[in-house]
Amino acid sequence: MAGTTATSYTDKVLVSGEVAEFSPAVIDEMKAHVAKYPADRSRSALIPLLFVVQRERGGWLDNPGINFLAQFLNLEVTDVWETATFYSMFNLRPVGRHHIQICKTLSCKIMGEPEITDHICTKLGIHPGETTEDGKYTVTMVECLGSCGTAPMMQIGFDYHEDLTVEKVDKILADCK
Ligand code: FES
Repeated sequence: MAGTTATSYTDKVLVSGEVAEFSPAVIDEMKAHVAKYPADRSRSALIPLLFVVQRERGGWLDNPGINFLAQFLNLEVTDVWETATFYSMFNLRPVGRHHIQICKTLSCKIMGEPEITDHICTKLGIHPGETTEDGKYTVTMVECLGSCGTAPMMQIGFDYHEDLTVEKVDKILADCK
């Protein structure tokens, strides 16, 4: 199967001192998030700001983006990394335009996740953790996404797709532009 390795939480992080720059509009958006919290609790804005940086840096958190947030929130770089590396919703490597996160936890596993994963990966020609050559899809296996009652399920971008069957998956993938 073809493909390039995408997000892996055991990969080494390449550290550089480069700091990302953002447009005034994005800086204002970040300041608006910070303003929701007490002045001495700006660190509480870290998760919404990680989402903004991920969006602005092409769908993943690169080192310059992390360095920016450390400066912006007056944190240590390691403070930012320890949050970024904890949650599967933050990508530490480039991902495809459609990031397919398949739940691999118990309810989904029992209700047919292996067949769904196999179908998606065979169809796209990649393994879990890889991105298609054209950069369109990344498949990642994740822990419970809190939708166990409608297992098996997956998340693409911010959208949940539930009660999956291979027929349903075919239609969902066909609708991905
Ligand atoms: S086990 Fe899959 S959503 Fe909870």
